[in-house]
Amino acid sequence: MNQDINFLIPSVPQSPKWWRNIVMYQIYPRSFKDSNGDGIGDLQGIIDSLDYLNGSSNSLGIGAIWLSPVYPSPMFDHGYDVSDYRNIDPSFGTLTIFNRLIEAAHQHSIRVIMDLVANHTSDQHPWFIKSRASRNNSLRDWYVWRDPAPDGGPPNNWLSYFGGSAWTLDKTTNQYYLHKFAPQQPDLNNWNPKVNQALVDIMHFWLKRGVDGFRMDVVDRLLFDPTFKDAPCNLAYKKNVDPQVKKFDFSKTYYQPEVHQIIAVFRRVLDLYDAVGIGEVEARSIDFIQRFYDHGRGVQLPFDFLLLKTPWEAKKIGAHLKMYEKKLPRSSWPMYVLGNHDKERLADRIGKHNLKLAALMLLTLHGTPMMYYGDEIGLASMPLSKDKWQDAYTKNTKSDWTRDYSRGPMQWNSSKYVGFSTHVPWLPPNEFKNEQNVQEQEKGPNSILHLYKSLIKLRNNHRSLSEGTFELIYDGSEGVIGYLRSFRTEKMLILLNFTSTIKQLRLKHKGLLGTVIMRTHTHNNPQDLVCTIHLKPKEGCILKLEKN
Ligand code: GLC
Ligand code: CA
Repeated sequence: MNQDINFLIPSVPQSPKWWRNIVMYQIYPRSFKDSNGDGIGDLQGIIDSLDYLNGSSNSLGIGAIWLSPVYPSPMFDHGYDVSDYRNIDPSFGTLTIFNRLIEAAHQHSIRVIMDLVANHTSDQHPWFIKSRASRNNSLRDWYVWRDPAPDGGPPNNWLSYFGGSAWTLDKTTNQYYLHKFAPQQPDLNNWNPKVNQALVDIMHFWLKRGVDGFRMDVVDRLLFDPTFKDAPCNLAYKKNVDPQVKKFDFSKTYYQPEVHQIIAVFRRVLDLYDAVGIGEVEARSIDFIQRFYDHGRGVQLPFDFLLLKTPWEAKKIGAHLKMYEKKLPRSSWPMYVLGNHDKERLADRIGKHNLKLAALMLLTLHGTPMMYYGDEIGLASMPLSKDKWQDAYTKNTKSDWTRDYSRGPMQWNSSKYVGFSTHVPWLPPNEFKNEQNVQEQEKGPNSILHLYKSLIKLRNNHRSLSEGTFELIYDGSEGVIGYLRSFRTEKMLILLNFTSTIKQLRLKHKGLLGTVIMRTHTHNNPQDLVCTIHLKPKEGCILKLEKN
């Protein structure tokens, strides 16, 4: 069968920059919903859950889902080790089910974003199998091969992000291959235009099937220093102190400015389909993240991971927002995120008592919010002894934290396997499953889930919140962050009390008075116009401003 035929898949009506005014939601497919009782989430499970995400008055109101990789994979890094870019792993389903997912998602007005893993493949990918077979084959320079150092060791001191050397010796040809991540994830040689072209072809393959964009894995690290010089010593390194602080720095396998040329090629492909590119850019500074907009030639939405890394303190968050907005290139659009499959669960990081405030902030900021599945029910990590860890990155290290903690099964109800599966799930539910589940929270008007639904509905119905401008009014120095979102004459004032005390604020802003339309702590009807407002500890609220 010719897999490149054009499928007649309905698409969501296009609007310019559609990715600006919707709420996006990351699904870790292994953990969302299992349809066939093998304990592993799958595509059919996602299809079965679409009503929860969008399409009815009781849905969350999500406009796009990003699926972590669903391609065939030995699952060493749970899909981030791809062995075939043009198919679906049998544990997730088939291409036919994938086509059905696109069709059903679009019917629910949900766009589908896939993960593009362009830095490396699995060591089981046919490209690598061929590349490693001999020194002279046509795919040899699709990967990065080097002779051993004179002492037989690795060609230089580069380190892998997953620990140890970034080089592994392959006995077949007695050369080392480069892997920024695990040895099972050999790096593609993205300096080779044939590799770039192969990735472009893969993008066409999925975009033709109706996919609406890609989240681009480690997009800032697609290259390496082609001189292969040693990396400098890391000055912060001290022997036997902190295993996370490595002896050499990562500059040689990190950002190379030529990466923008590759991203620009990807962007041209995306533009042919009005598709979106979301960039996983490891945050070093605001300037660094914002480089990836590249004057409209880069990805439309580089993640702001700095917000996620900022301690949950009003002063620090306020300062970050102020700076980010100030430096944002004109016509660029932020993408804010508070959690993902590599980072600590939001509930673990900031504590249960802050979750409503975080929801209100994420869903009223200027930019496209990317939610992480389960955050809408306040999902916290599960107890998991080290012998049960599955994450390749952490299970062989001295780390006392594993990414598994953030990848637990979605908790749909309080049954034994939380409505995720009829079988023991690949990771256990958490100990709070009686409260942290969809069914329970749908009953309670004061639940986190209820707040998420109301906030998303409000955002989807008010252009000031989804597309409006942003003006910081309170910068957090007094414990309260406040900002104004405006679109034409519609103005919303958002106030977030990060402190544990009651805050009283005067509301006169440029002659406008406010009507409280939503509060995190009391879900009552809109109140009358108010001049002052009392915010409870950790309370956030939204006011619609009107002329006095
Ligand atoms: C990205 C992914 C992470 C993966 C790594 C290697 O950082 O988010 O989960 O382990 O790339 O592919
Ligand atoms: Ca399954």
